[in-house]
Amino acid sequence: MLFADVPKVGGGERVLGHMRVLRADRMGFLSRLTREVDRVSRLEIRGRRTFVVNHPEVLHELLVEGARTFEKSDVTRFALYPLAGEGLFTSNGDLWRRQRKLMAPLFHAGQLETYAADMVAATVRGQSTWKDGQTVSLAKETTHITMSIAGKTLFDADTFSEADAIGDAITVALDWAAANAPSFLALGHLLARRSLQGIARRGPLRAAAPIGKLADRLRAPLVLPGESGKRLRAAITLLDTHVQGMIDARRAGAQKDDLLARLLRAQGDDGAKMSDRQVRDEVLTLFLAGHETTATALAWAVHCLCKNPAVYEQVQAEVDALAGEPTFADLSRLPLTLRVFKEALRLYPPVPLFTRQAREEATIDGVTVRRNDVVLVSPWALHRRADLWPDPERFDPDRFLPERESKRSRYAWLPFGAGARVCIGAAFAMIEGQLVLASLLRHARFESLNDEVPEVSATLRPRSGMPMRVHLRRPASVS
Ligand code: HEM
Repeated sequence: MLFADVPKVGGGERVLGHMRVLRADRMGFLSRLTREVDRVSRLEIRGRRTFVVNHPEVLHELLVEGARTFEKSDVTRFALYPLAGEGLFTSNGDLWRRQRKLMAPLFHAGQLETYAADMVAATVRGQSTWKDGQTVSLAKETTHITMSIAGKTLFDADTFSEADAIGDAITVALDWAAANAPSFLALGHLLARRSLQGIARRGPLRAAAPIGKLADRLRAPLVLPGESGKRLRAAITLLDTHVQGMIDARRAGAQKDDLLARLLRAQGDDGAKMSDRQVRDEVLTLFLAGHETTATALAWAVHCLCKNPAVYEQVQAEVDALAGEPTFADLSRLPLTLRVFKEALRLYPPVPLFTRQAREEATIDGVTVRRNDVVLVSPWALHRRADLWPDPERFDPDRFLPERESKRSRYAWLPFGAGARVCIGAAFAMIEGQLVLASLLRHARFESLNDEVPEVSATLRPRSGMPMRVHLRRPASVS
């Protein structure tokens, strides 16, 4: 089947196509995808043929079988470049393969156990300043907690404030990326780069090297003057200085056993270690990918409990049956807590959209995809398919009972993506979700103060920050 024959998603405008709705009404866009896309549809975006796929079989074809053909798209790479550079999230090809192999052992089950105590300690610490009856912005609180977990586990940053400065700078860069990815300037920039790469490939040999170099320089976005550009530059300078300082300290012999130290020690098959620049890109990638996603998921999980008091009671009883603060060994005693977190990830996937780009011509579900075509995946839309999730808007953690899980396609639930590029931190995030949620419920009773709705920014954030009244159940004291 050809592009023109593929059903088109509605809501595109005459001149702008889907560009405006992608920038201005992303929740409306997600609802449209949910209603309209069955297997493969197409969008109208000038200069960029874009497909949307939304069926487990087709997702398997794209993300697993097609992993070598469908790489991270240049829009994603470009928007995140100032922050993540050529880190694991944004790199492609041989560099990505090498880095994934080097970093995978850092996230193996045995390693994760060592982080559990830090996860709970950060949660208790985060709650220790709450007063009984106080109103908090839960999204802010969970961000604070996961940021400090990331700070502690990644680079042994002891204080909340150290992690805070980095976290704030990352938020500035993420917001910049979210605002600038779907823009005409970005698309024009990428088209210009692609043309230069084409000329370098096909043009006279003499011109190839300088034109190739010019194309290479265009891989970073233009940061325009003005307030947001100024804030982005300041944030990146802060991050670079901070991370380089930590790398220098480790190289000078500081004895730590955090992820940064392990990254610096990691060696490829050829015995080569990572450059400082590569370590910087990986540290920021992990910090960025690792904290906001889990923070929003946690906030939505508490929200779902507040709206479903019967489940809240059951999960509270499960948590209260523990002997003390939750530990790694308690994970198997918290099966409902785990199901609640999974169901929250279904209803509110922190990454509601992600993209791939074809390196060469291919077919998906019988549709011809050309080189450089973009394919969009929406966990949000997938998780609301009534054929996979009956009564999809209903919060029902029992959908994740093992016997029900085993009957469903593995590709029906994609909060962490799938295939070769599946989230490297998925197991870390699941443990963090279960432990932090248990610790939060242990210390406080949450009362929801509004009907919170999601908005798509860098992640699926709660629009009003999720105001909650907290009723303290037992003191959260910091040892
Ligand atoms: C609930 C929490 C999380 C969610 C929902 C989430 C979601 C995702 C998704 C959807 C992807 C794949 C995107 C794609 O295929 O284009 C991804 C990749 C990634 N995530 Fe996560 N993530 C979470 C937590 C974490 C944590 C805790 C870390 C690190 C500590 C992390 C690090 C990464 C990295 C490095 C990648 C890129 C992997 C690669 O391409 O090889 N994430 N994540």
